[in-house]
Amino acid sequence: MDHAAPRTDMIDLINQRRSVRDYLPRATDPDTVNRLLACAVRAPTAMHAEPWAFLIVQNLSVLKTLSDRAKTEFMRETQRMQSKETNRARALVAQPDFNIFYNAGTLVVICAPTTAPFGGADCWLAAQNLMLAACAESLGTCVIGFALSALNQADVKAELGIPPDMSAVAPIIVGTPRGETPATTRRAPRILGFV
Ligand SMILES: Cc1cc2nc3c(=O)[nH]c(=O)nc-3n(C[C@H](O)[C@H](O)[C@H](O)COP(=O)(O)O)c2cc1C
Repeated sequence: MDHAAPRTDMIDLINQRRSVRDYLPRATDPDTVNRLLACAVRAPTAMHAEPWAFLIVQNLSVLKTLSDRAKTEFMRETQRMQSKETNRARALVAQPDFNIFYNAGTLVVICAPTTAPFGGADCWLAAQNLMLAACAESLGTCVIGFALSALNQADVKAELGIPPDMSAVAPIIVGTPRGETPATTRRAPRILGFV
């Protein structure tokens, strides 16, 4: 391989990934999900522990119940908060038809044992691999951090089959985008120095 030549397809993919929040009502087929998971587990993993485990939720009524639970948790946790951002978020969440998973047909929850020393880092790296692989297959994704507190409630874990000694770390929705999603902006990297 010519090390002077960057893999421009990979660079394009990184720049083309978007957080997609509008999906066609279509489940991602199991073969595709499995290809994405195969890419996820190629992520770096501290001490080669590979602590990740994947829960795939495609049952729309389970997704709706989980969305409603997360909304309830959020309203409870923020009831005494008064910032402009919180008020805006509460107004959105209060809308009965707002689904925190944006009606995507698939949710992949990347989990790790609570005791895994770098479980969080490993799962998030796997998440980014999964999102880039999905982008390469013209699928949309979005991290749904909003779902985390509901996902980690003991009764929700039991219902979904997340073992008690594991935590949900990275919830990612996957689906067929309904249209184009414009790129968000980024500040230039803040460089502290080249020492
Ligand atoms: C840890 C984490 C949690 C996030 N949680 C949510 C979420 O709950 N809902 C949502 O719509 N987007 C969520 N996002 C997506 C961000 O809003 C998004 O990445 C950011 O606005 C930049 O947009 P882009 O990914 O299209 O470049 C989350 C992203 C991260 C990294």
